[in-house]
Amino acid sequence: MASTPPEPTNVLVHPLVVRVTHWINALAILIMIGSGWRIYNNVPIFSSIEFPLWATLGGDPDLTYARNSDVGFSNALLWHLAGMWLFAVNGLIVISYGILSGRFFRRLFPIRPREVTATIGDTLRFKLAHDDLTTYNAVQKILYLGVLCAMVLAAISGLALWKPVQFQGLITLFQSFQGARLVHFLCMSAIALFLVVHVMLALLVPRTLLSMINGKVRAPLRIPVEAGE
Ligand code: HEM
Repeated sequence: MASTPPEPTNVLVHPLVVRVTHWINALAILIMIGSGWRIYNNVPIFSSIEFPLWATLGGDPDLTYARNSDVGFSNALLWHLAGMWLFAVNGLIVISYGILSGRFFRRLFPIRPREVTATIGDTLRFKLAHDDLTTYNAVQKILYLGVLCAMVLAAISGLALWKPVQFQGLITLFQSFQGARLVHFLCMSAIALFLVVHVMLALLVPRTLLSMINGKVRAPLRIPVEAGE
């Protein structure tokens, strides 16, 4: 006798803690990048790269100040340090929860090379399937793992820049203060690039956006995705 396919039902894919920390992280990242760009502008690493003032945070409160005024710089630094606490405390919750609950291992592994090439091929041919939103495809897994690593490295290099005397070992690890600045800048660039692709994909498949708000997607019930969380 042919078995009938299971009826689609609401499946919990993102528990409350994941949703709350995800949106707090999004806010923290916007604060960190916006204020970081203003701080960078004061002493750019690359003379050809300067960020437009309108895209920065905490900049000049009074536009009569010169573009690279010290007032704008120190305001941005205050925003950056405030955002840092939000980013760090929230990040520690994300990492502890991801590891202790097993979610990171369940959702982000295994990554099979054959699946990576197949997913890239499907993406280039605009044939990426969105039917099953209970699992991540291989490219999503790589992107999420990559951005998690970039955030950890941004935090470590940021610590070296914030307290270079207390964390001299970190400065040595990055070769010099300028080395730590460069690593911090590259991590920011990777996170910003991720964010552009990530938000575009979320807007292209709005059901995923809804799932990051209410936690659920409609799917045939096989195994409870987040059982035990
Ligand atoms: C405001 C901008 C953002 C939007 C609209 C957004 C949207 C989303 C959506 C819809 C998902 C669920 C994807 C799915 O289930 O298929 C998701 C997951 C995720 N997002 Fe974002 N996101 C934003 C910002 C960020 C930022 C700034 C980061 C990190 C730098 C980030 C990292 C992640 C990660 C790691 C996941 C996977 C979470 C997990 O399953 O544990 N997102 N995001």
